[in-house]
Amino acid sequence: MSKVTNNMNNAILYDIYESYEENFKKVSLRIINFKKPEFKKNKTVYTFLGFRINLPFGIPAGPLLNSKYIKKAFEFGFAVSTYKTVRSDSFPCHPFPNILYVKLAKNFEFQKNARATVDKKGQKYPNITITNSFGVPSKQPDFWIKDAKKALKYQKETNLLIVSFMGTAKKGQTEQELIEDFARTAKLAKSTGAKILEVNLSCPNIGNEGLVCYNLDMSEKVCKAIRSAIDKTPLVIKVGYYRNGGKLKEIARIADRYANAIAVINTIQAEILDKNGKQALPGENRLRSGVCGHTIKSLGLEMVKRLNKIKLQKNYMYEIIGIGGIMTPKDYFEYKKAGANLVQSATGAMWNPYLAYEIWKIENSRLGK
Ligand SMILES: Cc1cc2nc3c(=O)[nH]c(=O)nc-3n(C[C@H](O)[C@H](O)[C@H](O)COP(=O)(O)O)c2cc1C
Repeated sequence: MSKVTNNMNNAILYDIYESYEENFKKVSLRIINFKKPEFKKNKTVYTFLGFRINLPFGIPAGPLLNSKYIKKAFEFGFAVSTYKTVRSDSFPCHPFPNILYVKLAKNFEFQKNARATVDKKGQKYPNITITNSFGVPSKQPDFWIKDAKKALKYQKETNLLIVSFMGTAKKGQTEQELIEDFARTAKLAKSTGAKILEVNLSCPNIGNEGLVCYNLDMSEKVCKAIRSAIDKTPLVIKVGYYRNGGKLKEIARIADRYANAIAVINTIQAEILDKNGKQALPGENRLRSGVCGHTIKSLGLEMVKRLNKIKLQKNYMYEIIGIGGIMTPKDYFEYKKAGANLVQSATGAMWNPYLAYEIWKIENSRLGK
């Protein structure tokens, strides 16, 4: 198996120097040039939410833009992968560029005035930290339902495709209207036939109020409405980082009551500045943007540990999806040890298409001993 070489300072699964639309049309040519790994028969059976899987690892909502990407992800061993978040109506993408390398202070903490500066030199795998600024674009439901059905056909016996969705906050909208949009989109996502659905709660609430997941009253109402819209279909709730222990306990209770799993963490919001201290991403509402990759690992890991502790204390049933800065097999094993039932990597998988294969080889050699 050839080693990953990254001379162009670019991701392999997504071309960061091309627009979102260009990437949507074609899977990055660079992954096509990578040889598919060969998976022999597994020595053990893994499960997630009761479904048999090849490996408790995959790619979260984001880098897999459509069915062509899902096909590649499964071929490269990312056994449980997620279709990028969709909406109840088409929604435009933020202008190019959508991905920039950034640097965060060493003692970077989750706080309102967190800042990151663009790293013009670029970075080398595995120490990659980026901001991704897409604005959660979506095609019309007719398009994505058809495409997700196609993606579901690429699931082999031990693969799982999760379909991620969210509601759209609009100007002048009432809280009830946003809740209904979440429920409507949940129903549309269910109509694809996906075995598992994921609601992205780390998205804007009404009236520029911040993210839905930090408003616990709204989060509970949204989850309740979704549960009644999708009946018993397994549901994952995807949330951001919580510093406050009381709030985390509350979101854990909501997850246990209405969902089957909780996915942590989404990106960490920061002001993204150029070397002169000015807004780096062009256009409105783009001063703050989500940071992901290497630097946020400690925060994701911490959330998994805390959620696992709450789960044990309260006898909760939810499973935990650990996400955030998983760049190497070592990171995967740390998340597993912390209590993650499933681990997913966005940035790491974009730069290293063999990440799942490398983990699978270690998992299987350990079992062979
Ligand atoms: C290119 C890209 C697009 C993303 N889009 C979404 C999205 O549509 N929905 C979502 O819930 N998270 C999205 N994310 C966030 C990831 O799912 C993940 O939570 C975050 O990147 C942290 O993981 P990482 O450090 O492995 O990148 C996106 C991330 C990346 C890199």
